Amino acid sequence: MLNVEADYHQNQMPPKAPLKPLLVRAFSGEPIERPPVWLMRQAGRYMHEYQAVRQKTDFMTLCKTPALAAEVSMQPILAFGMDAVIVFSDILPPAEAMGLALTFGDKGPCFPNALLPDQVASLRIPEPEADLGFMLETLKILRRELSSPEHQDRALIGFAGAPWTLATYMIEGAIASEKGRHLHKTKAWLYNRPSVLHALLEKLALTIGRYLIAQIHAGAQAVQLFDTWAGHLSAREYAEFALPYQRRVISAVRQAHPEIPVIMYARGMRGCLPLLTQSGATVLSLDEFSDLSESRSALDANGFADLALQGNLDPVALWQADPERLTELTKQTLASGGSRRYGFNLGHGVLQYTPRDHVARVVDTAQAFRWQAP
Ligand code: CP3
Repeated sequence: MLNVEADYHQNQMPPKAPLKPLLVRAFSGEPIERPPVWLMRQAGRYMHEYQAVRQKTDFMTLCKTPALAAEVSMQPILAFGMDAVIVFSDILPPAEAMGLALTFGDKGPCFPNALLPDQVASLRIPEPEADLGFMLETLKILRRELSSPEHQDRALIGFAGAPWTLATYMIEGAIASEKGRHLHKTKAWLYNRPSVLHALLEKLALTIGRYLIAQIHAGAQAVQLFDTWAGHLSAREYAEFALPYQRRVISAVRQAHPEIPVIMYARGMRGCLPLLTQSGATVLSLDEFSDLSESRSALDANGFADLALQGNLDPVALWQADPERLTELTKQTLASGGSRRYGFNLGHGVLQYTPRDHVARVVDTAQAFRWQAP
């Protein structure tokens, strides 16, 4: 305290206010000259730099080695210059920390002993620092790295899976298989044992709320909640099994850190904007099946003008569209996002076989975009 005051008088300079990066300014409704640009799953197998690290390390070891996870988080920034860094990890380690063994193979993630109804009671509520400290450590490394002048306008984003989506992975064991895609085991719980499913979702909501708050303490300046399998529920089921638990997580985070943007991504929600607005998030990340400008108008007309939007270029367009067409689609997306409270992104994650020059083209096009003076 005394030292700060002494410095202040010596230098005649106010103490340095922490800089709000472009993404945070945009989502808070401050005037910005262009939208922030980042891509879900911007780090990963489409990058040779990532492949080089993965040749030496399996996926879980990579997630659990903070220096490597931080390196991989920065790879897309160094290659393409996005405006935000999403910490490298996965949505499933918290489920492992609850007591369910997790493996990652060629076919994606797998819980070899899928969760059974009578095991829900024995799942633990993890302590983020003790049980998921590797992710928090990665955030701390990235926080330091991003405080250099060259990076300080880039936001650091933390994330977690939403309770419904985490429950589906834990109950199915593996979703990569054709059978798993129906979520038939999870739906058996939903139809036949709803109270056990609620008990699991309750534990997940508590776990994820604490985890996101710990990520903010470790340096995250925004957090995103992924409800990737939301679209497998009817509106009525979503209101019972997905929404209340999103709300619980988000209200815990908002209560502890009202200044932090909370981004809600629920996939496959075509036409269900009113349900999305009820999550309590400050930013809605739309998938490629939604229309940004229609959503903006509907939000403005219904008292949700303060909600920001993120999205929503089709990741398959990023992969398959010819270069000229891709530029056009990127500009169309930016134009439909509107001139305030909007961040450019994809409708889902970057796909594995995406050519990297497509990513470079989209990021460059989006960052060169400027709002026309009114
Ligand atoms: O966005 C980023 O760059 C950060 C990293 C990130 C990963 N997974 C790395 C990853 C994030 C944000 C996730 C989230 C995630 N993981 C979700 C929600 C978002 C979405 O895509 O819907 C889900 C459902 C998962 C579960 C998961 N992890 C699957 C289905 C797979 C296998 C299929 C696939 O796309 O690779 C993973 C593995 C995974 N997670 C990889 C990466 C880079 C590939 C692992 C490898 O190197 O072999």
